[in-house]
Amino acid sequence: MKLVIAADHGGYNIKEAIKAALATQGHEVADLGTDNGVDSVDYPVFAKALCAEIKEGRAELGILCCGTGIGMSMVANKQRGIRAAVLSDTFSAEMTRRHNNANVLCLGGRVVSEAEAVELALLFVATPFEGGRHERRVAMMED
Ligand code: RB5
Repeated sequence: MKLVIAADHGGYNIKEAIKAALATQGHEVADLGTDNGVDSVDYPVFAKALCAEIKEGRAELGILCCGTGIGMSMVANKQRGIRAAVLSDTFSAEMTRRHNNANVLCLGGRVVSEAEAVELALLFVATPFEGGRHERRVAMMED
C-alpha cells in the first residue's frame, strides 16, 4: 500500500519506528519529515502536507505523529476529505478503519511507547473499511 507519514519533534521517535515496521511489511512509505526529535517545528505544517498527499491521490492512508496526536488530528480534520482519528488503543485503531473509514491515524509520541505505536499503526493499515451501512454515514460527514 502507498502510505505517507509525518511528525513534529514530539512524534519523531515513533515515526521512525512505524516507518521501519511498515517498510518491513513491504509498504511504500513516503516520509515528509521532520528529520529529528530535537529541533522544534510546527505540527500544522506537517499535517497539511500529509493531508494533501492523500487528497491528491498519492497515498491511500497517512500517519501523523506529534506529542499527543491531538494537534495533528485537529489540523487534519479541517482538511476536506480527511477523516483523522487520534487514539491509543487497539480496539479504536481497528474500529476507526472498519466503521469510520479513517484515512489518517494520529498518534502521540508522549502518550504511547514505540512498540505500542508500531502495533497501532500496523493494525490500522491492515484493517479494511466494512462499507455497507457505514458507507452512508461516512458520506454524511462531507455534507
Ligand atoms: C509540541 O510541543 C506539541 O505541542 C505537539 O507535539 C503536539 O502534542 C500538539 O498537539
